Amino acid sequence: MPDPDIILSLFNRIRSRFPTFSLESEGRKRLYLNSGAGSLMVDNCLQAINSYAVSLPPMPGQITPAEKQTFEFQQQVRQLVADFIGASRPQEISFHFSTTAALFNLAFALRSLFRPGKNLVVTDMDHFANISPWENLGLAQGAEIRRVRLTPELMLDRTDLLDKVDKDTVLVALTGASNALGTILPLTDLISDLKQKSDALVVVDAVHLAPHVPIDVRELGCDFLAFSGYKTFGPMLGLLYSRQETRDRLSPYRVETNQEAMPYCWEQGMLPNLNLAGLKGALDYLLELGKAAHPRESSAPTRKIFRLTLEAIKKYEQNLSLYFLERWKKFQSPRLRFYGIENPARVTFRTPTFALEVAGLTPAELKKLFWERAGIIIADGNHYSAVVVRHLKKNALNRVSLAHYDGPDSLDLFFDCLENILSH
Ligand SMILES: Cc1ncc(COP(=O)(O)O)c(C=O)c1O
Repeated sequence: MPDPDIILSLFNRIRSRFPTFSLESEGRKRLYLNSGAGSLMVDNCLQAINSYAVSLPPMPGQITPAEKQTFEFQQQVRQLVADFIGASRPQEISFHFSTTAALFNLAFALRSLFRPGKNLVVTDMDHFANISPWENLGLAQGAEIRRVRLTPELMLDRTDLLDKVDKDTVLVALTGASNALGTILPLTDLISDLKQKSDALVVVDAVHLAPHVPIDVRELGCDFLAFSGYKTFGPMLGLLYSRQETRDRLSPYRVETNQEAMPYCWEQGMLPNLNLAGLKGALDYLLELGKAAHPRESSAPTRKIFRLTLEAIKKYEQNLSLYFLERWKKFQSPRLRFYGIENPARVTFRTPTFALEVAGLTPAELKKLFWERAGIIIADGNHYSAVVVRHLKKNALNRVSLAHYDGPDSLDLFFDCLENILSH
């Protein structure tokens, strides 16, 4: 069990790594509480982009030292991502424009499985990036789309999921964590249960999970998993894990001269090396953090260090969530509404992402007041997890979302401003 204070003891060092903290807007400090929309970029990421921009030629190859360097660099980044999510081989990692693009590419590659008589299961908990690709390709091919509903407590309805999966289900698309509510799904159990009922392929959207908790694709038992660089302290980039054994079921978009083997079959054109460099910088930062938190483990395998780092982040962020929930509970205003897991005993099932509302103010008005009164940036909208929001019969909600570089002091500023808004 990690010491909950590890991140706290490194807190000033951590914050100094994120240059955005020193920026001002309209002549004053600003407070970014919108990491669910995109995390801050760590300094390593920016330095790596600069340095590789000078040293790397675009084309990988095997003859000249520079092209060999590009080849080795790309291999290195694949290996780093594989270690980050516990994949067995670097070939299982491919690079895409975004997670949305990765999942559209995946849906296209699997299209021959979607036929009349077959069904695909998606959920109301998901971001549309993990619904629309399946609906688009599935329906176009004549398959049925089944949507798993939420319970009145806004949890994924497990019984409904297992009822909807049958022998004709070819694919199940699940989220790891809701970017609207911060709810973490018990994926290992869900996937194990549904794999007992069906041979369906399982795709996990891990975009909102990756910056908050350790991921292990083999423990999860999923076939595909995607996440985004810009939600994980790095640049815009979509990362897709495809289990090696799925290769014979895939027919991706592929330029004829491109290799058929994974990962090359996935990649359309030259890779965005600078984004790869930025991602490497962000993942290297997480490794540095793990080593600083556990100096005795500094020569442990990379996979283990990632796990230690994310365990420490998870523990720290759970404490942040507890602090938020405790302060929220103290507000007695009947104007406040909260959506998602509120019970402190269930804090392990949430990220520090909180959906809320103030009656009498539209989400856009509340966001504007936070900005005008205190320079605080929160989110409004449906965050593309529109079904969750529609389920509440709304068009938009506010969202406060934090990461490991935020502290209780940020929440104090948030609650002071909330108090001010409620009283004026
Ligand atoms: C949970 C979740 N899934 C998928 C996406 C889409 O990611 P990308 O912008 O890389 O396509 C997002 C982005 O907000 C997200 O929060």
